[in-house]
Amino acid sequence: MSWRHLAVATEAVLRAGKIQRERYGQGVEVELKGEIDLVTEVDRACEDAILEVIRSRYPDHDIVTEETDLARTGSRYVWIVDPLDGTTNFAHSYPMFCASVALTVDGESVAGAVFDPLRDELFTAEKGAGAHLNGRRLQVTPEDRLIKSLIITGFPYDLHERLVERLTPFIRVMSRARAVRRAGSAAIDLSYVAAGRADGFWEAVLKPWDMAAGRLLVEEAGGKVTRFDGTTVSMGPDEIAATNGRIHDELLAALRETLGAVETALV
Ligand code: IPD
Ligand code: CA
Ligand code: CA
Repeated sequence: MSWRHLAVATEAVLRAGKIQRERYGQGVEVELKGEIDLVTEVDRACEDAILEVIRSRYPDHDIVTEETDLARTGSRYVWIVDPLDGTTNFAHSYPMFCASVALTVDGESVAGAVFDPLRDELFTAEKGAGAHLNGRRLQVTPEDRLIKSLIITGFPYDLHERLVERLTPFIRVMSRARAVRRAGSAAIDLSYVAAGRADGFWEAVLKPWDMAAGRLLVEEAGGKVTRFDGTTVSMGPDEIAATNGRIHDELLAALRETLGAVETALV
């Protein structure tokens, strides 16, 4: 692994972040990808900027990016790009969004960068070399009880069609944790677990671009990332639970529990 990979991921998210900061709060053209799944002109402008950075440095690497289906050559090196994570927030001027770029080699994340332009926070991770926030080394929290934990979650865009299935783990974790937050940017959520601002995160379905950089951040900060049954998360779409490690089993148990009769009646 070359440090240059992380430098390129960093340059790419900083370029996208600059566009997001300039365009934030000014109203934006929105298109619908689904009933509640949006894409904006800013997603596309950020994607163009990121692709330009990666292609100018590594023209023979493959790229998987959210808004464009690009042809693959079969390279071992695949960049995974979320040009704007938190599009719904951005479209509503809700200040929680970022750009996320990771490099995978043979399907495993080896470098990742997440940039939150409104807070000027750059989260970076390199396989085997730790996770950092603006250059400061990150460490997950030492908390070992779910009842004393702050947990973050998110909901995929199929929420309306699968309401009970999606709300069951939410109700379970709500009843066992100190607090649950839903901020609307999975890449920032995972970065916050790495930074010790939350003890854990889960989501029922994430795409590769939502989590490729964030999962490396959590692992490199000393945390644990698995599916709800404890097995390895694929590059997605897949479910993900990411914690400080110490509360992992307790969170997984809550995620797998079914609802009681009273709760079922409520949803
Ligand atoms: C979404 C955000 C959100 C998560 C969704 C993602 P997007 O990504 O990360 O927090 O709950 O599952 O799809 O569409 O804003 O890039
Ligand atoms: Ca996303
Ligand atoms: Ca996105």
